[in-house]
Amino acid sequence: MELNRRSFLAGGTLFAAGALARTAAAARAKGEETYTPPPVVRGVRRVKAEPVLQCPAPDSMGVAWAVDGLANGAVEFSDNPQLQNAKTVRCGGFGMTSFDDQALQVRLVGLKPGTRYWYRTITMPIAVYKSAYTIQLGEPEVGNVHSFVTPGESVPARFCVMNDTHENWKQFGPIVEDILAFGPALTVWNGDATNTTEEKARAVETFLAPPIARKDYAADIPLLFTNGNHDFRGKWIRRLDEVMMARLPSERSSRDWDLKRNFAFRLGDVAMIGLDTGEDKPDWHPKWMGFANFSPYRAAQAVWLKDALARPEIANAPYIVVFCHIPLFDSDPDANPGDRFENWADWQKECADLWGPLFAEAGVQVVVAAHKHHYRYDPATASRPWAQVVGGGPGKNPWNFPTVIKGETTGGELKLTVKNILTGQVVGKHAFKPRKGFLGIS
Ligand SMILES: [Fe+2]
Ligand SMILES: [Fe+2]
Repeated sequence: MELNRRSFLAGGTLFAAGALARTAAAARAKGEETYTPPPVVRGVRRVKAEPVLQCPAPDSMGVAWAVDGLANGAVEFSDNPQLQNAKTVRCGGFGMTSFDDQALQVRLVGLKPGTRYWYRTITMPIAVYKSAYTIQLGEPEVGNVHSFVTPGESVPARFCVMNDTHENWKQFGPIVEDILAFGPALTVWNGDATNTTEEKARAVETFLAPPIARKDYAADIPLLFTNGNHDFRGKWIRRLDEVMMARLPSERSSRDWDLKRNFAFRLGDVAMIGLDTGEDKPDWHPKWMGFANFSPYRAAQAVWLKDALARPEIANAPYIVVFCHIPLFDSDPDANPGDRFENWADWQKECADLWGPLFAEAGVQVVVAAHKHHYRYDPATASRPWAQVVGGGPGKNPWNFPTVIKGETTGGELKLTVKNILTGQVVGKHAFKPRKGFLGIS
């Protein structure tokens, strides 16, 4: 359904031009002095791509979109495709709302779990900015109507995982096409989306406006992002929240408010757990110049994890799947567990020591990891009762190839299917039974 600018303006009280006109008319009717806004500047376009959904949660959803030039904006959303009785959420929330010349963000809150919502962005170009009192607006740009489903226990567990995309756009296009064809409820982007990020424009391109055909690549299927080691590299990346929003603080206790990337929620029968393994060299490594502080971060996540796994909707889930970037196990005795001066971590022993016993206690079936640029499967063992699937990488050879991992619950099992995106071949199929102890299953 096409909703045009006219329909927005007809019902709109959102932006200054309309509001000012009404205020001025009322004042003139009373014979009062009025402020006449400067004329609207025609033909100014700011929107660069379709919106990108992010940080999906049972009761909230993030919306971000790329703009090219100073703009303000909002999202209208409703439970029907006509957007009747839509609510409007301003970018920047309360107070004086946001201006940004690269990315706008809105968080939709108070949503119901397992529910489809329709939404569209409204972008107001700040066509001319001279000072706080001297602004000329453009014409509002009304986006296409998209929709999403919030996670919840009633939603079919259907998800995809991509990882180590490393701004390889030739591969990213086919990865996205494969995911869109599958139609998951959400896509886990399991780290190393970036390489090194020294300015915001680079992150905006990577996440909000990648140079691929599908500008709507995450407009209807939210991204569930977990940091990779590269996603900590560069001086600007420390402000990544301006492009990829942090998880809502209300998802966790005040003790854990600094844990911005961890998530734990139900997608159908699957409890989705997100952990952040951090950088790939120890904090004391001289290359970090003393700036790295990941060990306390990993320990703080263990405290969060223990509580998250005890939450009833997680503890009662038939399946628990953990997503993190650096693997938590490697069978090669020469593999670097992340505590050596030489080279980068093949796996993250500090995280495994902190989190692994909690996985075992809770009955986590599988960890989905990345980072090695080589697909592999590590079956569970008696001493390590969780399996591990490691996604591929951005190479183009039989060792290093991009993968999409598809997860769905069907036939009484959780099935993970791993596809080589270069060849189109399925290279791995892994099935998991419901957890022992879950609702009487033994
Ligand atoms: Fe990587
Ligand atoms: Fe990595």
